[in-house]
Amino acid sequence: MKRASNPESQSFVVDHALRQTSRKRPDMRKMPIRKAFTLLEPGPVVLVTTRDGGKNNVMTISWTMVTDFTPRFAMTTGPWNHSYAALRKTRECVLSIPTVDLLDQVVGAGTCSGSDTDKFEKLGLTPVKAEKVRPPLIRECLANIECKVIDIIPKHNILILKAVAVHVDRSRREKRTLHAVGDGTFVADGRRLNRRKRMRSKIPDGV
Ligand SMILES: Cc1cc2nc3c(=O)[nH]c(=O)nc-3n(C[C@H](O)[C@H](O)[C@H](O)COP(=O)(O)O)c2cc1C
Repeated sequence: MKRASNPESQSFVVDHALRQTSRKRPDMRKMPIRKAFTLLEPGPVVLVTTRDGGKNNVMTISWTMVTDFTPRFAMTTGPWNHSYAALRKTRECVLSIPTVDLLDQVVGAGTCSGSDTDKFEKLGLTPVKAEKVRPPLIRECLANIECKVIDIIPKHNILILKAVAVHVDRSRREKRTLHAVGDGTFVADGRRLNRRKRMRSKIPDGV
């Protein structure tokens, strides 16, 4: 992969072969769906992929919420984003969890529109065929949660998502996720602290 000649564009040029939707998921291992909420509970910034009219798109979302252990998630977005029409029409998306090394892609996907930009190409992200939905996984991300949109609450611009498959790249060394402060700055994960024994009664079986 090499950088585009215009450094201001923040875009990357990737090999043509890499840009094609790949059927291979060599490093992505399946995660039990009951554990999907553990990917979102820490509140990381996510990349949301959609696919409409044969075209992939990706946008950045920081307003997400775990709603229960089933797992269902809430996400706030609306008609101001190009992705919203695809979410409403296809009722499918993938929540991809980026790590700190993808900060420029996170900002890039959230500052231009799929209406006039192929963001996968511009940002050097590789779409990988999902298992149960049409929008792609993102190869470069730590984890990918395939979701169905099961409800839309227009009054509050909230979409309710249900995970249908989860993939985690266990070979990835960088596991620190990003948290948006909301003022253009981000916080990266710090040290993991373990209180599993004391919280046992609150943790679902198998998690
Ligand atoms: C860090 C970050 C967080 C964002 N979080 C949200 C969000 O939670 N909800 C939302 O509607 N837009 C959010 N955005 C804005 C969208 O990602 C942005 O409008 C994007 O260009 C939409 O892409 P699209 O038009 O291709 O759908 C965020 C942007 C950034 C950079």
